[in-house]
Amino acid sequence: MIIAVDGPAASGKGTIAKALGRHYGLPVLDTGLLYRAVGLSVLKNGGDPDHQADALAACGFDDAILADPALRSEAVGSLASRVSVHQSVRDALVQRQRDFATQPGGAILDGRDIGTVIAPDADAKIFVTASVHVRAERRFKDAQAHGGQPDMDSLIADIQARDTRDMSRDHAPLKIADGADLLDTSNLTIDAAVQRAIALVDAQLEGRP
Ligand code: CDP
Ligand code: CDP
Repeated sequence: MIIAVDGPAASGKGTIAKALGRHYGLPVLDTGLLYRAVGLSVLKNGGDPDHQADALAACGFDDAILADPALRSEAVGSLASRVSVHQSVRDALVQRQRDFATQPGGAILDGRDIGTVIAPDADAKIFVTASVHVRAERRFKDAQAHGGQPDMDSLIADIQARDTRDMSRDHAPLKIADGADLLDTSNLTIDAAVQRAIALVDAQLEGRP
């Protein structure tokens, strides 16, 4: 059983994917971390994220970077979005994601192109979204909780820039996959969003041929 969870930054897809993993007893892969690792590697190598060769060279990152605390910052999210426009970078990361998706027993993956490119035949697909303002507020609270001094206007601008780049790129743009159910979490608590996601997945699984 494969469950695809896609959506824009801070929509809540990671939280929902992890909760679905606990509910169905399936392993979860946050595919954004792979793109973030490439973005952070480019930075550490002194490369240019917009330059395809530099971004591709960073795809051979050491897995130790996946534990780097900087990986989760909005700055690295933005670098990830820049390296992820290159088709060669996406190709370099496909196999790892497909191997995870097709492991015996099944898996849940969250990202941008899981239901469209990585696992178009997934058994269930959810597209998680929320308003830009709500998403920026979530990032604001996360940054404050980690001792930061976030600025709401720049968070909104960063999220909008990332949405635009992710939705308008030529390769694997962010869009609602065929067969995906939309889940708007703008006005939902985490618990309510998770319950709704489970209900949607259950309904999709029941409707399977
Ligand atoms: O957690 P958040 O939604 O902020 O970002 P993320 O999922 O960690 O992804 C960071 C960036 O990587 C995104 O803005 C996308 O540009 C890219 N990405 C992608 O292209 N395809 C994926 N399957 C996952 C992430
Ligand atoms: O993975 P993605 O970037 O889409 O978002 P996330 O990391 O799951 O959630 C971003 C933040 O929003 C986290 O602090 C979550 O606890 C919070 N959140 C929320 O307040 N309400 C929801 N319905 C889902 C997530």
